[in-house]
Amino acid sequence: MALLAAPIPPTRCPGTRRSATRRSAFYGNLRRPLYPVIKSDSVDPVRNPYAPGAGQRPPELAGRDRELQQFEVVLERVARGRPERSMVVTGLRGVGKTVLLNTFKSMAIQRLWGTGKIEARPDQSIRRPVAAALHMAIRELAPRHRGPERIDEFLGVLKAFAMRDPGAAKGTSHWSPGIDVPASRGRADSGDLEIDLTELFVDAASVATDLGVGIALFIDEMQDVPALDVSALCAACHELSQTSGRLIVVGAGLPHLPSVLSASKSYSERLFRYARIDRLDREAADLALIAPAQEEGVAFTPEALDALYEAADGYPYFVQAYGKVAWDLAPRSPITAEDIKVSAPEAEEELAVGFFGSRYERATPAERDYMHAMAQLGDEPVPTADVADALGRKPSSLSPARDSLIKKGLIYSAERGQIAFTVPHFGRFLRAQPI
Ligand SMILES: Nc1ncnc2c1ncn2[C@@H]1O[C@H](COP(=O)(O)OP(=O)(O)OP(=O)(O)O)[C@@H](O)[C@H]1O
Ligand SMILES: [Mg+2]
Repeated sequence: MALLAAPIPPTRCPGTRRSATRRSAFYGNLRRPLYPVIKSDSVDPVRNPYAPGAGQRPPELAGRDRELQQFEVVLERVARGRPERSMVVTGLRGVGKTVLLNTFKSMAIQRLWGTGKIEARPDQSIRRPVAAALHMAIRELAPRHRGPERIDEFLGVLKAFAMRDPGAAKGTSHWSPGIDVPASRGRADSGDLEIDLTELFVDAASVATDLGVGIALFIDEMQDVPALDVSALCAACHELSQTSGRLIVVGAGLPHLPSVLSASKSYSERLFRYARIDRLDREAADLALIAPAQEEGVAFTPEALDALYEAADGYPYFVQAYGKVAWDLAPRSPITAEDIKVSAPEAEEELAVGFFGSRYERATPAERDYMHAMAQLGDEPVPTADVADALGRKPSSLSPARDSLIKKGLIYSAERGQIAFTVPHFGRFLRAQPI
């Protein structure tokens, strides 16, 4: 805050004196109109550290030490050629799966691994995205590799793999993988994704082995990978695990992802270590708020933290959302329970539009009816038969609405015959909506 509220000292910039003068004049003009808006000399909105938003890196990655340690072990074991299961992170919307996946990616990069990431989409084959991601991974490794011909050889296989995309084959697409070596023949180009992916992964892993590192392929929204591709992916991972190939597939997705994987290959449970991430406990949620605030010289009263935990319920997205608005509206440090009370309605309004509303709007009227019926039945997973009862319909007539809600990622089947929201507090949001 000192920058805006305190009298501005002459800017001391290591650059030229001239640019320093220009800078201070610029800030001098800005300061006056901003000061009354900020109204505080300690809780400065410009320095607000909280980051509500999909995949937004939180200022403090709280409560995820166990998962980080587990991934550290995975990296170390794979690098040593030890048999190891890869990791799949699952959880509800907004619990921090993407953020954790990105952190895993940074950890792999720190170990000089090659990395690539895709976000799966329903109805889209993973062939092209996987090709692009592995291209990125190899580009990271290539400058350190002593045998450029090995890299070119792999790129030739990668290009052949990418060009077997059904869209490209039909001539409906002029997409080119941007690889300027000729496509090779006879490897990873059969058109059968299971065979091709296996060969591609084995070759990529062997390039990484040359360097004594590994390759990590990250797949976000993994529950959206089409069924045939999931099966191919599991088969390729299975092959790699048998040969201790140094390539791992690390996934993230909604809570039903393990059942999507095991429906496709029964051995998938032995391929992946599932890490279910959830709400933060009280200590972690407090840390997520306090640690970034401390960096800026701002504190919370214990009662403010009580009120924030009650409001956010430990869900990381909500922790960031309530923390952000509370900071913006608090007149001074420490932030008090009264500040939380004043700011909560604004945070709720932002969540209603950005977090809940944007998802609700993706649903058709029939799907909305289905979700409203679910919401009336409570916040726990509910039997699909009860939803049908509540709507006075036959369960089979509701299958299309239910299936398309699952496809849209708004609900998931917690177990056979049961259904639940993927979005925390969504039932509460719906109950407050006019039907
Ligand atoms: N461990 C954490 N501590 C504090 N904040 C976190 C943590 N993890 C995630 N967040 C915050 O939560 C929000 C949601 O994170 P993210 O987008 O990774 O969730 P997600 O599980 O991928 O959600 P979705 O299923 O909608 O893709 C972000 O604003 C992020 O900054
Ligand atoms: Mg995500």
